[in-house]
Amino acid sequence: MNKLIIVDSVSKVYTQGSSSVCAVDSATFEIEDGELILICGPSGSGKSTLLYLMSGMLKPSSGKVVVAGRQLNGLSELEMARFRKETIGFVFQAFNLIPSLSALENVVASRMFDSEKHQKRAQEILESMGLAHRTQHLPSELSGGEQQRVAIARALLNDPRIIFADEPTGNLDSKAGKNIIDILKKLNRKGKTVIIATHNPSILNGLESKRLNILDGKVQESGE
Ligand SMILES: Nc1ncnc2c1ncn2[C@@H]1O[C@H](COP(=O)(O)OP(=O)(O)OP(=O)(O)O)[C@@H](O)[C@H]1O
Ligand SMILES: [Mg+2]
Repeated sequence: MNKLIIVDSVSKVYTQGSSSVCAVDSATFEIEDGELILICGPSGSGKSTLLYLMSGMLKPSSGKVVVAGRQLNGLSELEMARFRKETIGFVFQAFNLIPSLSALENVVASRMFDSEKHQKRAQEILESMGLAHRTQHLPSELSGGEQQRVAIARALLNDPRIIFADEPTGNLDSKAGKNIIDILKKLNRKGKTVIIATHNPSILNGLESKRLNILDGKVQESGE
């Protein structure tokens, strides 16, 4: 199987009171195993929503999403939780680190009950990202770039096939942003499928990747 993600006529409408927003509008595209994909579009265009739909965190209003041969609409809550744990690593737009936990504890946070093995792996991942000297620090004691690396380390704990990164350089200066992009590129070279959403594609110049543009919820593939 080479099609890892199939998005077929997917729409997502958010309804709040009497108003509704079509955040993703009839999106259809495919992503192959091992690809590096950029999803580009201005603020509010639907990038985060699209990532949530592909990672099973949000159910589409219509259409279907198939990931690694599994149609997400058909999964029970338990199956969905297992699917996400085994297949997906998600780096959130705002890091979402837990303020009272150290860097190391944040990486293993979802695995508190099986901690020894995961602590060792978390330590290794943090070290591989140049954070060996920061593992015991709280998020408030870390720079933005360091917090983002902790967030990536957390997404890697289960060795997922697919990594979603939502505006991974959004809050960083250009040097820290480049460091994050280099980490994501390296993960892609190691065989992970990496999907990056950004409103600022210029930081990704020279990246060999497929690009999807999104505007007002409508997705279009572009050559470069
Ligand atoms: N939970 C929600 N309820 C209602 N509307 C929402 C919700 N989440 C997002 N929206 C709306 O859906 C549209 C797409 O939002 P989304 O967050 O996917 O965009 P985005 O491209 O990620 O934006 P940004 O670059 O600012 O992160 C926007 O108009 C937004 O206001
Ligand atoms: Mg967003």
